Amino acid sequence: MNKKWWNNSVVYQIYPKSFNDTNRDGIGDLNGIIEKLDYLKELGIDVIWLSPVYESPMDDNGYDISDYENISKEFGTMEEMDRLIQEADDRGIKIIMDLVINHSSDEHPWFIESKSSRENPKRDWYIWRDGNESGSSPNNLRSIFGGSCWEFDEGTGQYYFHSFSKKQPDLNWENPHLREEIYRMVRWWLDKGIGGFRVDAITFIKKPEKFIEEVSDGVDGLRVVKPNQPGVGKFLAELKKQTFAHYNIFTVAEAPGVELDQLAEYSGDEGYFDMLIRFDHVDLDMGEDGKWYTNNKWTLVDFKKAISKNQEAIKGNYTTALYLENHDQPRSLNRSIPKEDINERSAKLLATSYFFLKGMPYIYQGQEIGMTNIEYSTIESYDDISTIDQYNAALEAGYSKEKAMSFVYRRSRDNARTPMQWSDKENAGFSEVSPWLQVNPNYKEINVKKALENKNSLFYYYQNLIKIRKNPTYVDVLMSGDYEELFKDHLEVFVYLRQLNDQKLLVITNFSNKDVHLDLNEKAKQIVIGNYEDTPMLDGEVMVRPYECMVYELD
Ligand code: GLC
Ligand code: CA
Repeated sequence: MNKKWWNNSVVYQIYPKSFNDTNRDGIGDLNGIIEKLDYLKELGIDVIWLSPVYESPMDDNGYDISDYENISKEFGTMEEMDRLIQEADDRGIKIIMDLVINHSSDEHPWFIESKSSRENPKRDWYIWRDGNESGSSPNNLRSIFGGSCWEFDEGTGQYYFHSFSKKQPDLNWENPHLREEIYRMVRWWLDKGIGGFRVDAITFIKKPEKFIEEVSDGVDGLRVVKPNQPGVGKFLAELKKQTFAHYNIFTVAEAPGVELDQLAEYSGDEGYFDMLIRFDHVDLDMGEDGKWYTNNKWTLVDFKKAISKNQEAIKGNYTTALYLENHDQPRSLNRSIPKEDINERSAKLLATSYFFLKGMPYIYQGQEIGMTNIEYSTIESYDDISTIDQYNAALEAGYSKEKAMSFVYRRSRDNARTPMQWSDKENAGFSEVSPWLQVNPNYKEINVKKALENKNSLFYYYQNLIKIRKNPTYVDVLMSGDYEELFKDHLEVFVYLRQLNDQKLLVITNFSNKDVHLDLNEKAKQIVIGNYEDTPMLDGEVMVRPYECMVYELD
């Protein structure tokens, strides 16, 4: 593997709105991030993925951009952004920006022009169509956030297309002038010296050749829009060639719809991006069409299968984003551990389960202190556009309010968006005023201050995991060692082996509250890490206690 600066990096994702408020408006800001850089340095991360901070009406919290080359007033100024890049650099931390180029905001000047008349030169920068013969939407595609993908514009008598909310019109990638302008903007950011991009929803940029009527998948007569349409590769190749390829950076793409046998085309040195964010292991509970009320039951075996099929596909020089949480997912503790068993030990188990896999580990803000899901009593307390939509969809499909709320509790994106819990002070130390989204009441027990005071805390456990990923003894086996899953059908434990030449690491994680006896036929030379104080040595067999995890270097 040819070495790159980011090969061995660990990424920390910041959702700026919820990270740290310094100017008392209840909203996190860039200065708030600068203030916490030393904290992140102490954790040991190398890269910050910053969710969008560009100018935005905040319909989707910044994923609806009205000016790609400006910073939203809520978050700060471009000078502060430049200072953040510099201050992070001074600490050896690189910033990667979120690149949202499938759509803009409907308040972007491009869209305002596009909408102004059918003759406007920017008309074709977005996707406009006439209604069908009966005068309604061109077809029955459903947007990701609910309702038709088509929104009627009175002024010009046509419909525009949006894969997400109607305030996020899709850019028309077929237009070469639009593409040029995007590439110029991307280079402008890269010239600032950022470390790269997390690329948002990128497989949506190619629309179906013909917008034909689809067979409905729900009670609304619509069918959800499908990403990764044939022909998308042409745009992705050009994007890379005109931008990323000229910089010493990395890109990580959210690329829904990409199949595992397409990894070589989409990732790695020759692919469109350096690595992909896969959803297999976080979407286990979701039905085909992404509705929260189509709740699939899953077991640890399903989870292991989802992980292993990815691990097996990224052989050789390929890598992937390893993660349990992000701003679109519920907290991992609630997903994988029964409520009564959520504690620091089970949180360390979860951390261990993914940190030794092949790929680049990502930590989402608050994960390192074990933050958990929120349950607001009314739907009005929720902010997320997708939560409101899914709640209404559940009601329309005939579920009771209580049932609809239970889907929200399980899946709402606000679960991960509650303010970061810095201390047991009012508003969890996130802000001196009431925050934009209510804090999780458990901040008195779960907070950074408390974590830093206890040498055995989850925070220091993550710090150790990061140290192990960087330890010269383990760096190669962790980066490029083979992956092999053991006890595949076991419903309580997830066990895997990483091996490079003679060196073998064995990772054992017990996802149950029972003792599990394992016959392994292996002898350990050393304990690498564990979440009980007295991790037993492995000699042929081992008894793994409730929620115990351990990593051995084998003889
Ligand atoms: C991605 C983002 C999500 C956003 C959507 C539309 O999935 O992660 O937060 O709502 O794209 O930009
Ligand atoms: Ca603020």
